[in-house]
This record gives sequence, C-alpha cells and structure tokens, in this order.
Amino acid sequence: MSERERARLLDAFDSNWIAPFGPALDEFEQRLTTLTDRPAALATNSGTAALHLALRCVGVVRGDTVIVPTVTFVATANAVRYQGAVPYFVDVDPRTSNLDAALLEPLIDRLSRAGRRPAAVLSVDCYGSCADHSTIASICERHGIPYVVDAAESIGASHRGHPSGSFGDLAVFSFNGNKLVTTGGGGALLGSERHIERARHLATQARNPGRHFDHDDIGYAYRLSNLSAAVGNGQLDRLDELVAATRAVHARYVDGFADVDGVRVQPIDADGRGNGWLSVIHLDPQRHRTPDEIAEMLDGHDIEARPTWRPMHRQPVHAHSEFSSTGVADRLATTGLCLPSGSSLSESDQDRVIDLVTRSMVAPLGRRRERAGHVAVPAPPPIPAAFAPNNRVAS
Ligand SMILES: Cc1ncc(COP(=O)(O)O)c(C=O)c1O
Repeated sequence: MSERERARLLDAFDSNWIAPFGPALDEFEQRLTTLTDRPAALATNSGTAALHLALRCVGVVRGDTVIVPTVTFVATANAVRYQGAVPYFVDVDPRTSNLDAALLEPLIDRLSRAGRRPAAVLSVDCYGSCADHSTIASICERHGIPYVVDAAESIGASHRGHPSGSFGDLAVFSFNGNKLVTTGGGGALLGSERHIERARHLATQARNPGRHFDHDDIGYAYRLSNLSAAVGNGQLDRLDELVAATRAVHARYVDGFADVDGVRVQPIDADGRGNGWLSVIHLDPQRHRTPDEIAEMLDGHDIEARPTWRPMHRQPVHAHSEFSSTGVADRLATTGLCLPSGSSLSESDQDRVIDLVTRSMVAPLGRRRERAGHVAVPAPPPIPAAFAPNNRVAS
C-alpha cells in the first residue's frame, strides 16, 4: 500500500459513504469496465462470490456438469458445487498450468453424446497468465456453451492484445489481500449489461426497488463496500507500476536461475503477457529435491514459499469428481514451487532467495523440521522416471 491508497480511503471515510454504495464504488466499477473493455462491472466482496454469481447468471443449475481445469485454487471448483452442479476436471498445459485446450472439444463431444452437455466451461488464468482464451472461447461458441473465466489472479495481464477480464461471457477478478491489486478482500464480475444487472440484483439480496423490503429471488450479501472500493481505486492508479514490479521479479528469477541445473522458471508469456503475480519454478525430479523440502528450507530462513496448487482431483473434498487426465497436473504438482513474488520484494531479498535455492540444489538440505498441526494430505503419485520433453530442464 502507498500514500495514494491511504488518501483514497480517508477521503471515502470522511465522505461518510460507509456502505456497499457510494462514489468510490461507482468509480471503481467504471474503471474496471474501462480496463477490461466490457460494457459493465459489478464489484463484489470476494472473487468467490463473483464466481458464484457468474455461474448462476449463465444458468448453471443443480445436476449440471461444468468443465474446470484441475490446477486452480479451490474456490473455482467450490463455486460449481454452490450451484449443486458437478465439476468435471481437465488436465492442463505443461507450459502454463492453464486448461489444456486440446482436451476440451473431445471432452465436450463425449459428454454431449452421453446426454451430459456441459452447462459451462470455467477456465482459470493460473498464476497471472492468461489461458488460451481464443481457442477455448471459439470451442465454446461452436458448441453454444457459456464460457466463464476465473481471472482472479490475472488483472493487468493480456492475451492477443486483449486485457485479462475481457474474455468469456463473464469474467471474475479477485482483490483478496494476496492479489496483485487488492481491496483488502473483494472481487469483481465483468460482462454484458444484462448479466451484470442480474448479478447486481442477486448480490443485493434480490431486493426490488422501492420503499419496502421486497425480494423476488434468493439473493446474497455479495456487494463490496465503498471503503474497500476506495482502496481499490488507489491500487488501480498504480496498476502499471505493480505489474512492472512483479514482471521484474519474474525476470530476475529467470536470470538468477539461468545457469542452475535442475531449476526451470515457468514462463509467464506463453499465451500472452502475464502479470507475474506468482513466479513459479519447477525442480527436476531427477535432482531429488522436492518443492516441500525447498519450502521447508526457505521457511528456516523466514522466507515463505508454497508448493503450486494441489490439483483439484487430489483434494479430499473434490477427489470423487471426474477427471480427464494426461498426467501433466500430477507431474507439475511434484515439481512446482511458488517463490516470493510480491511487488515490493527488494532485489537483495530476492537475491537471497535465489542464492538459497541455488545452493540447496547442490548441498545437503539437513534435517526436516516437523511442524505442529501439520495436516496429512494424500501423497501425489510417484515421480515419473523422466520429465516429458516439453518439461525438460534446459542444461
Ligand atoms: C484462481 C482463483 N480463483 C478464485 C479465487 C477466490 O478469490 P477470493 O479469495 O477473492 O474469494 C482465488 C483467490 O483467492 C484464486 O486464486
């Protein structure tokens, strides 16, 4: 946060618009429509809420099937379940961890033949890089299936010259505290006037205009507050600066690990221009270093790093769902580690990270500390003998 966000917040506070209505909120929504070339935007109190509204607005109902990439944060799959629908997980592209577009049409055909035409495709822009939206959108259009984009992580990114948030019938941003642009908790839904009007109604307890509290549907309390939107306006003022900073962090990792055997930095510009929200490295399994071990070692130096998203088909809560697998997501889950990537990460702190990871690839890691309260999760499958060619670590 900078002085700018602080000033915006205090202005909103002093204006006494302490509600999910007000000038800062109107400005925030207007700026989001401009940023994403959309007719309309609705600011919500989380990205998860926006995902739920998106699925409801495109008509997903109980018993429907929704196609979702298996590599994502759990909120994507949960939103499908909120509607009583079932997610059908699909494997991902090894370059980007985003939905493998080549798997989509055969799956739609197979499900349609079985009388289960998907009610929506819900793809994700993983770690801040856009999915192959042009391919996915044209497949959805050909089959008349609504396309929803979980762009929670990719504000400021682009695909084929079009901004993140502009793809799909509806797209969703998250402004959670860990995102590139944050309102301290919040989200947004972007789309047509018709969809956004419906979503706004549902997000406001489906209350009809007028003096009385009359409600014509089951709605939700999903609006963002004017105060949070004020912080968001301050952040949007700095969007270019924030994206430049996280992209610079990624570039520094690329340079820093260029000559390190066994470490590959995941590209952020494979299907467009990523925002560098999270920099991900992959460890060559043949070097016998797991992401957990490296994260544990970094933790010992007060540096937070996390293994990449555990795929949804491996999550206890979603493991019973169907899954179209090529083996890529399972393989990436055994190699991927998210490194510190914040827009305020200093060069010297980042050099420490690079140095520690580099040294750990050659030196013994030492004894692992056992953590209190560690929750056991199902182990991923064994590491295959060799990386697939497109995953191979350059030497
Ligand atoms: C891919 C993805 N989808 C959805 C969400 C949910 O957003 P929120 O935390 O704002 O509800 C997040 C992040 O939190 C996310 O990373």
